[in-house]
Amino acid sequence: MTDVADRATAGFRREFGAPPAGQWAAPGRVNLIGEHTDYNDGFVLPFALPLRTVAAADRQEGARWTVWSELSGETIDFGADEVDEPGRVAGWGAYVAGVVWALREAGHDVPGARLAITSDVPLGAGLSSSAALEAAVLTALVDLGGLDLPAERQPRLAQRAENHYVGAPTGIMDQSASIRCRDGHALFLDCRSEGVEHIPFDLRGAGLAMLVVDSHAPHRHADGEYAARRKSCEAGAERLGVPALRDVTVDQLDTALARLDDPETRRRVRHVVTEDQRVLDTVALLRAGRVREIGPLLTASHVSMRDDFEITVPEIDTAVEAALAAGALGARMTGGGFGGCVLALVEADAADPVADAVTAAYAEQGFRAPDHLTVLPSPGAVRLT
Ligand code: GLA
Repeated sequence: MTDVADRATAGFRREFGAPPAGQWAAPGRVNLIGEHTDYNDGFVLPFALPLRTVAAADRQEGARWTVWSELSGETIDFGADEVDEPGRVAGWGAYVAGVVWALREAGHDVPGARLAITSDVPLGAGLSSSAALEAAVLTALVDLGGLDLPAERQPRLAQRAENHYVGAPTGIMDQSASIRCRDGHALFLDCRSEGVEHIPFDLRGAGLAMLVVDSHAPHRHADGEYAARRKSCEAGAERLGVPALRDVTVDQLDTALARLDDPETRRRVRHVVTEDQRVLDTVALLRAGRVREIGPLLTASHVSMRDDFEITVPEIDTAVEAALAAGALGARMTGGGFGGCVLALVEADAADPVADAVTAAYAEQGFRAPDHLTVLPSPGAVRLT
């Protein structure tokens, strides 16, 4: 298969009969650690994948957007009327229309545009294909229109598109990762201040590899369960009288938990508070160049997601257990949960044996065979040409 960017340009020429003005690429992400902490004003540590979504684009007259997607094979076309009423553009087009909507809502003079979109980011695998689509379209429109919207303000806008136009109540991590990550670094993001620090994450230099296992587990009720987790966290914060769970530290955790009567809320709060601390501990180890030592934190994060936040599924737990049994230094589910991918930190020469062990464990359980790849921290959204 040709390169994703070449396919976008070829698609643009075929659909619109002219070359595009440029190409904008935005990556999917994995989250190294810090799950369900973003909407609690806490800390996350994602890094961008080498898998990307590309928008080849050019301006067109008037307030009209015409968009071809390689994946669906369709071309959709919408104008300002459809954009201004969230819900009128559905399916994948909602992510594109949502970005136009959010830009217009924020007062930007969004240029009409034609876009051809291709992607290597698998859909529904928890690798943020939606954020990659939003970020590719957003960066294209910002550049084409010469809009005054610096990169640090773009994630919030893309998140608004997803929350209000598409209707998914997600936090700000995925859009931040796709837009703000840097090659060779993980993005330490404070989701309250939106301040970032780029943390060097040199897997190769440490003789390590990061294996990503796509569990292929069907997303069971993921949307409803995500919203329910968010509600529990908000209820916990309210009961504790803090603006967000970020405001509870691990030192205060026992006292805080004693004030909550509902055992489920207690578990949810314990996950978020301890997870924030695990992010801080991971960052401290990476800053000190002690990459190998983050393994146990990754595994502890998984246990907390499994037992306290209750967002894992059998396929995911099987992948984590099999990876650890085969010698992974740490393993955890990454992303929102109820399916998606598992990360395993492994010695560089152990990636294949660990992947094989996971595949064997899946066969034993009668699960559909997983996919796997090894990844390095890659660049965030960028204009290619
Ligand atoms: C999804 C959401 C993010 C974040 C994660 C869980 O990926 O889009 O905002 O909440 O789940 O960490």
